[in-house]
Amino acid sequence: MTPDELRKIKQTELAAQSKVRLSLHVCTAASCLSNRSDQVAEALVSELKRYGMDADCEVRCVGCMGLCSAGPLLSVEPTGVMYRDVTPEKTPEIAEAIYSGKVVEKYRCDTTTPFFARQQKIVLENSGRIDPDNLNHYIAADGYEALASVLTEMTPTEVLAQITASGLRGRGGAGFPTGLKWNTVAKVDHPRKFVICNADEGDPGAFMDRAVLESDPHRILEGMAIAGFAVGAERGYIYVRAEYPLAIKRLRQAIRQATRAGLLGNQIMGTPFNFDIEIRLGAGAFVCGEETALIASIEGKRGLPRPRPPYPASYGLWGCPTLINNVETFANIAPILRNGGAWFASIGTEKSKGTKVFALAGKINNTGLIEVPMGIKLRDIVEQIGGGIPDGKSFKAVQTGGPSGGCIPAQFLDMAVDYDALIQVGSIMGSGGMIIMDQSSNMVDVARFFMEFCMSESCGKCVPCRVGTWQMHELLDRICKKQATNDDLELLKELCDTVKHTALCGLGQTAPNPVLSTLRYFESEYTELINAACGMRDAACGQT
Ligand SMILES: Cc1cc2nc3c(=O)[nH]c(=O)nc-3n(C[C@H](O)[C@H](O)[C@H](O)COP(=O)(O)O)c2cc1C
Ligand code: SF4
Repeated sequence: MTPDELRKIKQTELAAQSKVRLSLHVCTAASCLSNRSDQVAEALVSELKRYGMDADCEVRCVGCMGLCSAGPLLSVEPTGVMYRDVTPEKTPEIAEAIYSGKVVEKYRCDTTTPFFARQQKIVLENSGRIDPDNLNHYIAADGYEALASVLTEMTPTEVLAQITASGLRGRGGAGFPTGLKWNTVAKVDHPRKFVICNADEGDPGAFMDRAVLESDPHRILEGMAIAGFAVGAERGYIYVRAEYPLAIKRLRQAIRQATRAGLLGNQIMGTPFNFDIEIRLGAGAFVCGEETALIASIEGKRGLPRPRPPYPASYGLWGCPTLINNVETFANIAPILRNGGAWFASIGTEKSKGTKVFALAGKINNTGLIEVPMGIKLRDIVEQIGGGIPDGKSFKAVQTGGPSGGCIPAQFLDMAVDYDALIQVGSIMGSGGMIIMDQSSNMVDVARFFMEFCMSESCGKCVPCRVGTWQMHELLDRICKKQATNDDLELLKELCDTVKHTALCGLGQTAPNPVLSTLRYFESEYTELINAACGMRDAACGQT
């Protein structure tokens, strides 16, 4: 398809969509699907027929609308009326109301609340709006426009300049400047280069990347193709965990569609640029999200990290220069090219540009997926967008950054959420998991949970992590069971320091973080458990 044909498809699709009087958007991302949203969609199709509305109304299966705790969600467009907890049994009542131009208030989801109003969507701009299996929907939403202009109007150097100007930082965890990474790969003179999309998403409680892939897969393909053009690569891989069957299905469909339409493959859009994308499945090992382990896994080897340097940018897949970015990083690329790097850089804070997608989970009223501008106050996320803590309890801490992150206590609720501020308080942005805890959460138990995760996910290649995570978990377990002494606590602190500074890869190096941050802010909870243990021992001594 040429850029002209792309424009024509967009116009035709928009014209067809303008003839649809009402579009009933049903979320069919994994969370709502697990609550029978596919049956809701089927029931609504029958209801539209029953009321003779099927000629000018449609049921559209869309991706994630964000408020997963209220799913299945149904949004009636263009009225914007949203229904929550929709079941197939409720559809006759809802359809009757739609037919009569009314609203079933008891099932209504209030979209004027901060959960919807305070968000700013770039990555999720199409989520919940387009059918992820429909290429024309993506095209009608400006899809592949950025790729068309990149291939026909820009040089790789100009693309690199826009990405650098945007200030985008990698969304996979470390926040490495994307422009710098792309420039590094572009500069290496090599006949074969690769682009990899890291969709391994292994952090407990994280589902941001899954939602993006399930809701808007073409956006990732477009971002990767632009990256390929910018750095000089002709092949891309998406490494996605096998536990994401729906994301894989939609990605496969999107790759097939894009290839058939000439948006991937040889001579894309009639230009000399060739780019193919293949999917590689991960078997669910957390460590395979680490870039060198991921590369080994794609090469068919056991997924073990290796020391860096050399970094993948110069020595990656099969020894070739490789650009590896996270799903959300790629999801930002097309909007940056469409609107310009300066536009993106105008959103967020000085050193953290754009928006961030977070998966809100734990003790919070509105669990789900949100996208907010960088720099938003933590309090706004918890109290406004998240709707506060359930059951009248109070906020105790938020865990960000998964097993590599930390727990941020209530005293920092007014901090601005950006990469550097989170590091300053002893946590990290990570990939976007946010687990909220209330007064009933025991912070030593939280640290034990994450250490158990790291211990079981440690690949065992290096001693500090293989043995250290086991020993730290043992000590945490002893503290939780009120069997530890003050010496155990000192040993735990010492081990944290040793593992942090001697482990081979990020998994081991950051495994102590949840312990260190809970010690920093909640040491009294450790000492209370240890004092209780001493008391029990003293009592036992007194009895004998
Ligand atoms: C143990 C471990 C697991 C990781 N898992 C992921 C992951 O699931 N997804 C991801 O994008 N990055 C993950 N990373 C970070 C990657 O190694 C890499 O930095 C990232 O994919 C780069 O993309 P970005 O620059 O767009 O953030 C992980 C790192 C470590 C140490
Ligand atoms: S730090 Fe842990 S996960 Fe990383 S190489 Fe060493 S043993 Fe493996």
